[in-house]
Amino acid sequence: MTSHINIVLKQAITTFTSKPEFFYSNLHHLTSLLDKITAEDVNFHPQFTTERLWNKPGKAPVTCIDIYEDSNVTMGIFILKPGGQLPLHNHPEMHGLIKVITGKVKITSYSLNTEKTMEIDRKSLKGEFVTPVNLPRKRILTAELNSSEVIDSSSKTCLLEPNIKNLHEIQSIDGPAAFLDILAPPYGSITPSNGPRLCSYYSVLSQAAPNVYRLQEIKSPSWYWTDAFPYTGPELVI
Ligand SMILES: [Fe+2]
Repeated sequence: MTSHINIVLKQAITTFTSKPEFFYSNLHHLTSLLDKITAEDVNFHPQFTTERLWNKPGKAPVTCIDIYEDSNVTMGIFILKPGGQLPLHNHPEMHGLIKVITGKVKITSYSLNTEKTMEIDRKSLKGEFVTPVNLPRKRILTAELNSSEVIDSSSKTCLLEPNIKNLHEIQSIDGPAAFLDILAPPYGSITPSNGPRLCSYYSVLSQAAPNVYRLQEIKSPSWYWTDAFPYTGPELVI
């Protein structure tokens, strides 16, 4: 019998290689399959739920488990230490699906090219709004803050789109937490307009209007690094 994680992976590949007219029905099917994924489905190692592991000297604050990657889709698991965080980062022209499998996380996300951000950018171009410091414009994004979400393994899948919720930071709450992450197209693949999709990190530079912020690209924060753990779940057959 095909494992549930294998069914999810096949549906992810189908979704992100489908013709545009079938994309949203396939995406809907993918999210409903992902909603049912549990830690047991990926044979999640119980060591990651213990404080002992995370207290080891030199332990990375985040562990990554790569499950699958091809030119269209990546699937993996991120595990955050208690109080750990993925810094605010983008997903250039990508979709992403997040399903918590253990623990609880808070997701703070920003959207791009919304009515509010476009209005600010129009005013800025006309000189009605002055960027607070003289920084290269391409390293500054105008983004609208969404309400933060606290989700756990009983929550539905969180979706990010090329504009909606495209940037986010993810923080574990009340202990370690892990989530399954599907991204498409993968980081490193080529965008038609901007070259390779790179993961960039941001910090809030200033507030431009209610819920609208200027985000400045930064180097990866020094408190953030990852280590890797092998995938030990069911064999995946494509
Ligand atoms: Fe992300």
